Amino acid sequence: MSGSSSLRVDRSADSRVARVFLNRPSVRNAFDDGLIELLTHTAQGLGRDPSIRVVVLAGDGPVFCAGADLNWMKGMAAYGLDENRRDAGALGAMFEAWQLLPKPVVGKVHGAALGGGTGLAAVCDVVVAQEGTLFGTTEVRLGLVPAVISPYVVAKIGQSNARAWFLTGGRYDALEALRCGLVHRVVPAEQLDRAVDEVVAACLEGGPEALAESKVLAMTAASLPSAEVRAVTVESIARRRVSAEGQEGMRAFLERRAPQWGNP
Ligand code: COA
Repeated sequence: MSGSSSLRVDRSADSRVARVFLNRPSVRNAFDDGLIELLTHTAQGLGRDPSIRVVVLAGDGPVFCAGADLNWMKGMAAYGLDENRRDAGALGAMFEAWQLLPKPVVGKVHGAALGGGTGLAAVCDVVVAQEGTLFGTTEVRLGLVPAVISPYVVAKIGQSNARAWFLTGGRYDALEALRCGLVHRVVPAEQLDRAVDEVVAACLEGGPEALAESKVLAMTAASLPSAEVRAVTVESIARRRVSAEGQEGMRAFLERRAPQWGNP
């Protein structure tokens, strides 16, 4: 277990799996500048660490994340526009670091994931939500906009749902988030850990390089220009076939044994 007071990383159950917990339960894991910086560095560090194969993002206390810390954001009015641009830039860098983390990121979401909390769910690859969890982009009700999270949320729920969510500022339960594509499984509270572990176990079966490349394909393939899409995807599978990992995966299947992914 490691981490500061507002974020902790637990690798005790399986050292290949980093379980990252937002840990400011008294403000429902709302993130301020300190937590944003920790989240950014943690995502970047986990991305570089070859011993980590899967990352779980979760929250301590009664809810996953109540979004940006409104006391901190309100306090930013005392600073000029340039300072606010820098500060918002750090927030954007945090979401980008999680979006680009080259490993499966599994969201374990309970209670509420509002505003930036919905943004954090959107940068996870697989989201398992506890029944009754509330999602939503509540920013307009605070006179704000879901700005830096918008690319990630729209990519997950699509323009139609995003327009409804952004403009109503409403709170939608986990089943609605499931319908919209933000969430992948909804389970009762007592099954949350087991459901997350099942997703983690599935991800651990994939080759690490194949997972990283598949993640990029999933995020970019549909928006590649048509002139490039065939070249990019043909190159991708050609390289994977001749890679040591691809060779090992296919050999292991044919030999009816578990593949050895070259764990460091
Ligand atoms: N920023 C700062 N503090 C927050 C916060 C936020 N985003 N969300 C909650 N808190 C604080 C509350 O002010 C309260 O502080 P207090 O104990 O000093 O009064 C504490 O966290 C507990 O909040 P409470 O509303 O009593 O908890 P709850 O468990 O009943 O409800 C939420 C949890 C997340 C549903 C609710 O706090 C909420 O709706 N928060 C705002 C979410 C939001 O709109 N975020 C978008 C930000 S852009």
